[in-house]
Amino acid sequence: MIASDIKDKSLRDKGRLKIEWAEKNMPVLSLVKGRFKKEKPLKGINISACLHVTSETANLVSTLKEGGAAVVLCASNPLSTQDDVAASIALDIGIPTFAIKGEDEKTYYKHINLALDHKPKITMDDGADLISELHKKRHEELKGVLGGTEETTTGVIRLKSMAEKGVLKYPIIAVNDAKTKHFFDNRYGTGQSTIDGILRATNMLIAGSNFVVCGYGFCGRGVAMRAKGMGARVIVTETDPLKALEAAMDGYQVMSASKAAEIGDIFVTVTGDVSVLKKEHFLKMKDGAILANSGHFNVEIDIAALESIKKSKQRIRDFVDEYTLHNGKRICLLGEGRLINLAAAEGHPAMVMDMSFCNQALSVEYIAKNAAKLENKVYPVPKPIDSQIAELKLKSMGIEIDRLTPEQEKYLASWELGT
Ligand SMILES: NC(=O)c1ccc[n+]([C@@H]2O[C@H](COP(=O)([O-])OP(=O)(O)OC[C@H]3O[C@@H](n4cnc5c(N)ncnc54)[C@H](O)[C@@H]3O)[C@@H](O)[C@H]2O)c1
Repeated sequence: MIASDIKDKSLRDKGRLKIEWAEKNMPVLSLVKGRFKKEKPLKGINISACLHVTSETANLVSTLKEGGAAVVLCASNPLSTQDDVAASIALDIGIPTFAIKGEDEKTYYKHINLALDHKPKITMDDGADLISELHKKRHEELKGVLGGTEETTTGVIRLKSMAEKGVLKYPIIAVNDAKTKHFFDNRYGTGQSTIDGILRATNMLIAGSNFVVCGYGFCGRGVAMRAKGMGARVIVTETDPLKALEAAMDGYQVMSASKAAEIGDIFVTVTGDVSVLKKEHFLKMKDGAILANSGHFNVEIDIAALESIKKSKQRIRDFVDEYTLHNGKRICLLGEGRLINLAAAEGHPAMVMDMSFCNQALSVEYIAKNAAKLENKVYPVPKPIDSQIAELKLKSMGIEIDRLTPEQEKYLASWELGT
């Protein structure tokens, strides 16, 4: 077996307990795992997965292994790895793992390349770094790949751009775009875990604060909803008029980032965009303002600009860098501007990742069975998979719903019947 590159093997027991804890809250994925164990739909397939190395991911990769796949795993972000979980994945589950929390950029890409050395037939990405490395630097290896999956909004945007430009060399299933993924993971998962990350890093009181959410997409809605629930005065900034209108009607203050910069206590970026908070904003901010990002890449807060206007900088707590600016004000950047929910907390709760990772497992199975029919495009998760996951999740939550009667089905499909 290929040697893993992890921080500390002795953390394995702690990691195993965390993985078992997550498994208890992933009943739908457990059902898929049980079926995979019997049917072995992924027999003989090499999978290279580039995902956040968390206890939920451990349950996904062990499901793929039970399905017969030979899996290797690397991190999809330098700060999101749980080192104890990485140790258990490598040693207990027996999946070669290349991930160390806090790894520098060189190691991050070395790990991606180690995962690619596995010669995958299927790739799994969260942010599209693995697939882009394969397309940019290891072109000759693209021929052997059947397809891939992508977990997040930013990755799907990158891959759609590759497909449009004709450079995408194999089919992709956009797991993010399944309803049972982004309606829940992006909204309730990011909503809760982003607040969790900010609290663990700062122990600030949310109640009574001016809490600025930049971006009112699925993640932004979740963060705003949870901050409001904790008593913050929530301010939303947007560039899309429809989303801005929606935020206003949901009861939030909506304004430009420049205006919000003057009054905000805590700022969270969740846009998937670049330089959302920049120099002109930092200069207007109050002394003690807190900046956090929960979008995929560390580009939403312009850190280079913050560095350029600082007089000094010191790490005052884990995941809190205090920048003192030339104007005398102090601004705190959390988690080096990387996904705060994964840097300072544990990412999304298992209960929501249950659905996201079911989409991953079933999409991988779909690629294994249907690769020959697929073109080099970005496909949605097939609708029956999405609906099946929703049904199973409801069942696992003990919720029963009504079914359409034949009369209702006929009525809803007809145009003749009116008043
Ligand atoms: N932290 C996590 O665990 C996690 C989970 C899921 C997704 N994500 C990432 O979060 C980001 C957002 O994902 P989403 O699903 O909410 O996307 P989305 O497309 O639903 O929403 C993004 C919103 O940001 C707005 N926006 C873009 N540029 C802006 C700017 N300069 N100022 C203000 N608003 C702007 C867009 O109009 C849009 O409404 C992506 O990078 C995604 O990959 C993170």
